[in-house]
Amino acid sequence: MSVTITKPVQRRPRFHPLEVSTVDRLTDDAVAVAFAVPEELTGAFAFTPGQHLTVKRGEVRRSYSICSTPMELRERGRLRIGVRQVPGGSFSSYAISDLKPGDTVEVLPPLGQFTTDLDPLRRKHYAGIVAGSGITPVLSLVATALAVEPHSRFTLIYGNRYSRSVMFAEELADLKDRYPDRLHLIHVLSREPRDAELLSGRLDRARLRALFGTLVEPSTVDEWFLCGPFGMVMDAKAVLKDQPGKVHTELFHVEDTPPPPARDTDEEAGETEVTVRLDGRETSFPMRRDERVLLAALKVRPELPYACQGGVCSTCRAKVVDGEVRMAHNYALESDELAAGYVLTCQSSPVTDRLTVDYDA
Ligand code: FES
Repeated sequence: MSVTITKPVQRRPRFHPLEVSTVDRLTDDAVAVAFAVPEELTGAFAFTPGQHLTVKRGEVRRSYSICSTPMELRERGRLRIGVRQVPGGSFSSYAISDLKPGDTVEVLPPLGQFTTDLDPLRRKHYAGIVAGSGITPVLSLVATALAVEPHSRFTLIYGNRYSRSVMFAEELADLKDRYPDRLHLIHVLSREPRDAELLSGRLDRARLRALFGTLVEPSTVDEWFLCGPFGMVMDAKAVLKDQPGKVHTELFHVEDTPPPPARDTDEEAGETEVTVRLDGRETSFPMRRDERVLLAALKVRPELPYACQGGVCSTCRAKVVDGEVRMAHNYALESDELAAGYVLTCQSSPVTDRLTVDYDA
């Protein structure tokens, strides 16, 4: 292993201890956790709606979307996330059962590309297709877009199993009251009958096509935000593939994703000399080509950023500046980031003799 010092660069975000200000029960298995961000850290925690932050408890890191707005952070120093319990989930179980106001949590500042620029002069039609806890980042997008852009409107199709499992039902009702003409809210329940048959059942391709033919005119939408389980997001993407609006996606669960593509065994057999650059410091080490770059690099640079390790959150993003990698999954990077050479290091294995990845880029 060798270490080289290069010119200092802007440091990557670091974990900061934040005090929990409130824990609000949303449903039987979900809470909203608000953090009090001290004034000196509001710059570090500044975010755009749709982004997520990462929390750390011991060695466990988890990413959660922010449901509050940038205005709340600026005016009240409040940053709020939505947490739904997942079976065996270490942090989510802790948040739901034990976390209380006054506790301290290690929090990494916000990241993520599931967002858009807002401009008060714009007149846009945004639409969200979300299911379950996928509402969390979209709640922030809806509240912020309608507040910042007085001429824009938002259509939100929100799928849940039961009315009692709807996260942020009150916040959405408040937004509907505040913006009755600019927010079109469509609740779809899969296990509870609704008056209209169209609104009862899963948010699959058939239902989305039916909704598009009646309640929503997709050709009028400028930007789509799809967030939820893999199957729903893929169905929505397929239905929208011929529509003109830009599609943003964010996945919450990846268990049902397909296996990684078959690999060339000759490529897997070799070793690669890898260099990682973080905070202006370079570290080189050899690794096998059947390993993932992030896991190999953490052995020599344990401070490298990561969270989900599933190709979803983009916390481990770095730029390949020499050599090539092959990614198993990518649910986070947009095509322009891929074209610029960015990869998810948790999903990347080297395919060349030498590889340099830059976490500062
Ligand atoms: S750690 Fe989340 S995408 Fe790599």
